[in-house]
Amino acid sequence: MQKPKVYVTRELPERGLHIIKERFDAEVWPEYAPPPKEVITEKAAKVDALATLLSDKIDAEVFDAAPNLRIVSQLAVGFDNIDVKEATKRGIYVTNTPGVLTETTADFAWALLMAAARRVAEADRYVRAGKWKVGWHPAMLQGRDVYGATLGIVGLGRIGSSIAKRARGFDMKVLYYDVIRRQDLEKELKIEYVEIDTLLQKSDFVTINVPLLKATYHLIDEKKLRLMKKTAILINNARGPVVDEKALYKALKEGWIASAGLDVFEQEPILQSNPLLTLENVIVAPHISSASFETRSRMSEMVAENLVAFFESRVPPNLVNKDVVGIKKPGPK
Ligand code: GLV
Repeated sequence: MQKPKVYVTRELPERGLHIIKERFDAEVWPEYAPPPKEVITEKAAKVDALATLLSDKIDAEVFDAAPNLRIVSQLAVGFDNIDVKEATKRGIYVTNTPGVLTETTADFAWALLMAAARRVAEADRYVRAGKWKVGWHPAMLQGRDVYGATLGIVGLGRIGSSIAKRARGFDMKVLYYDVIRRQDLEKELKIEYVEIDTLLQKSDFVTINVPLLKATYHLIDEKKLRLMKKTAILINNARGPVVDEKALYKALKEGWIASAGLDVFEQEPILQSNPLLTLENVIVAPHISSASFETRSRMSEMVAENLVAFFESRVPPNLVNKDVVGIKKPGPK
């Protein structure tokens, strides 16, 4: 029997890629930079499956060009780059890699939080630039205390909850806001539900942990930023467009808030001309929150597992569009 054809849009970590190459007739985009949209569209036309990353735009145009496409297996928990509604309409399965990256991503939110609070990146630049000339000074690079401060978590999903768990070691008061109140978790995590405006007014640190949806686009806008404390620090390692970057720049430049730690941006990669990069009180990273060796390997295995399950006529373990089951071209050909 002929193996199903899979186009893999980047060299995935070996553990998952090995399975994909063994089980499928696989072609892999060999470059570090993502394939252009035309390449994805052209390749999609000839395959039964795509293995994608969050930087690949998979929309109706791709689906229309791909008569045999049955499944898009994405290496990421987020899938805002995929038009899931259009996929479902065509009976195309969409899968993701949730759960496995929760702790790694929560760790990184904390890495940004600690680094922003204690000005770690600035301190590194200071030393390397030869500015540490006069010995120890009590005013040098003063930051904010994390221990005992108030943490506000916007979005209490898996990652938000894991960030809350870590806050207990720092004896923090933890507030959270979500569209769904999680009374079941409040006692266990020692967290308190508040409306978003209250959270922004009361928190010393605010972490953004919501997915990008129509309802969360620019959730943190100028009005919301103006509610925050002047000493507050904003951490975003969810999705860039949840925060209005222009408003954030103004807030940081004009001192409505103290600083920010950002792993995600409205445009990725961020342009070198983005004014956020001119500010000392911003720490940035290139969307690497789940980038640990083990997590990325496990994510690649999940990409493979979802593909294998589908082509063995099983429901993939991480099916995003569950309503696709039974529509049009269900299961393998
Ligand atoms: C990363 O941002 C992911 O969605 O996995």
